[in-house]
Amino acid sequence: MPDLVEPAVPAGRMGGRPQPCLSVDELTIRPWNARDAPVIVAAYADEDIQRWHARSLDRNEATIWAARWADRWRHETGADWAVTEGDTVLGRIGIRRLDLAEGFGEAAYWVLPAARGRAVAPRALTAVTDWMFTLGLHRMELTHSTRNTASCRVAEKAGYAYEGTMHGRGLHADGYHDMHLHARLHTPATVTRPPAV
Ligand SMILES: CC(C)(COP(=O)(O)OP(=O)(O)OC[C@H]1O[C@@H](n2cnc3c(N)ncnc32)[C@H](O)[C@@H]1OP(=O)(O)O)[C@@H](O)C(=O)NCCC(=O)NCCS
Repeated sequence: MPDLVEPAVPAGRMGGRPQPCLSVDELTIRPWNARDAPVIVAAYADEDIQRWHARSLDRNEATIWAARWADRWRHETGADWAVTEGDTVLGRIGIRRLDLAEGFGEAAYWVLPAARGRAVAPRALTAVTDWMFTLGLHRMELTHSTRNTASCRVAEKAGYAYEGTMHGRGLHADGYHDMHLHARLHTPATVTRPPAV
């Protein structure tokens, strides 16, 4: 069945090149590798990361988790980076859902407890969003539980505008949560009014 719409980002533009390293201030944002497995295990043992990301990982699963992101980059279905300072991993910034043809991505992030409160997540989110826009992406969005006020602040600081509340959209260990939807557009939408009749 022929597509009647040109893809926003042609297949191969992302996965056909190496995943980039980005720099912001003192932070380096680089692809994960197998040596990161212990810090990934530690991150998913943190109660806040477990609560909002609803998973835990053992060492073997963490190694697979890191390798899977390299595959997803190649197949252009997602992307994930470690956010580091020197040799220390501070957090994670990623694109958990990605549709290049539609020009759409959905961000995800966490920061290890010792590095919270330094705007690591908003700076990493801004850098990755800007980079994805240079690739041709049109819209990046993120969702967070209405109970996760820290994540709401990350969205605001990274220029992701609040677009609405999705009722019962996020299934967590304690049940369904209402979720905020935030988004950043490469070219911000112009607000138009319907014509007067
Ligand atoms: C949400 C999270 C990613 C924020 O990352 P960060 O790099 O600390 O972001 P910021 O420094 O910009 O802080 C954001 C908010 O976190 C809160 N915060 C600040 N210092 C904090 C600390 N030491 N510990 C916990 N929260 C803190 C504040 O509410 C802050 O907002 P403010 O700047 O208006 O005061 C991080 O707290 C985290 O990983 N939490 C657990 C996992 C999670 O919630 N992931 C997102 C799921 S949608």
